Amino acid sequence: MKKVILAYSGGLDTSVAIKWLADKGYSVIAYMADVGQGGDFKAIKKRAEIAGASKVIIEDLKERFAEEFVFPALMANAVYEGRYTLATALSRPIIANGLVEAAKKEKAECVAHGCTGKGNDQVRFEVSCRILEPGLKIIAPVREWEFGSREAEIRYAKEKNIPIDVTKKSPYSIDKNLWGVSIECGVLEDPWVEPPEGAYQLTRGKSSPAKKPRYVEIHFDSGIPVELNGAYMKPVDLLEELNEIGAEYGIGRSDMVENRLVGIKSREVYEAPAAAILLSAHKDLEALVLDRETAHFKEIVSLKYSELVYYGLWYSPLKKALDKFIKETQKNVIGTVRMKLEQGRCAATGRKSKFSLYQEALATYTEKDKFDQKLAKGFIEIWGMPYRR
Ligand code: ARG
Repeated sequence: MKKVILAYSGGLDTSVAIKWLADKGYSVIAYMADVGQGGDFKAIKKRAEIAGASKVIIEDLKERFAEEFVFPALMANAVYEGRYTLATALSRPIIANGLVEAAKKEKAECVAHGCTGKGNDQVRFEVSCRILEPGLKIIAPVREWEFGSREAEIRYAKEKNIPIDVTKKSPYSIDKNLWGVSIECGVLEDPWVEPPEGAYQLTRGKSSPAKKPRYVEIHFDSGIPVELNGAYMKPVDLLEELNEIGAEYGIGRSDMVENRLVGIKSREVYEAPAAAILLSAHKDLEALVLDRETAHFKEIVSLKYSELVYYGLWYSPLKKALDKFIKETQKNVIGTVRMKLEQGRCAATGRKSKFSLYQEALATYTEKDKFDQKLAKGFIEIWGMPYRR
């Protein structure tokens, strides 16, 4: 019997996919990566088994996700089209890696995913799998099968006794991990409609009781956040803690129309409290320690890096090369940033580093000034020379 490793989420599509693949003669191994999405894994495992999975693998990848995917993206200040901090896009390559490893271990010749033919995730899964293990066959049931609608899928699930919780199903499509939540579909498909409060999964809106501003101090070591308010924190704990604190203040929400890789524009709502706080703090510390040319060049790199992540090119040679460049720039990104959290926003109010390039003696307008203003005259003469007539 041919074996297939299916990326399983526990939702309707992938549950139906188990049965659909089994009916096609496959032995289906459901693979689920824990990247911080939460949920009742026991119940999900049960559901996969009832749907017809011959085996269910649930792997805790949270630590690896934080260290090898989220933190490099943070060091790169990766944000797509100015607002999307790439939570979903970053999770796909690690899940693809999990699928490929499981396929090797289980001696399966195929992998499968539950993505539709209209989104970015199919591209991310498939391009990543291809790069990691070119010989694997990839099946995309949702792109191929006969069900024309959700209702048809539900009918099939009922007919085949696949347990799905249709009543509790929200009208949105939600993808969640440690780095944020992506929300689409339902009323959000009309870009003119304001996202209802109920669309948000993590963060509290303005209607919640006003909270007093709060400060958090984040210490970075070579670009990586390692301490919160003076205490060392493991990557996953730090992300979870900042998500919780930030969510209370409604920090990290964004509502945007974005350009998908497949050419479609889509409206998506994001919540990423920890990402918003950390990206803002990290950029602030970089402003203190990076020289001007590196800082400006890094902004160009950041733009490209974000595109590569969004486009499913995590394992590409260019992305690898950019990682090396970024790592080199982070050597002196060591220091502490004080962030002020207020309803709906956060900002740095203080930063310090032993590698600070800020020199008060040069910047000051007091008598402590050490800057020789007379030198400016000659500098301007020469700087402006090419434009003189
Ligand atoms: N638009 C985002 C991306 O392509 C998120 C996609 C998944 N969104 C979702 N709500 N299921 O990375």
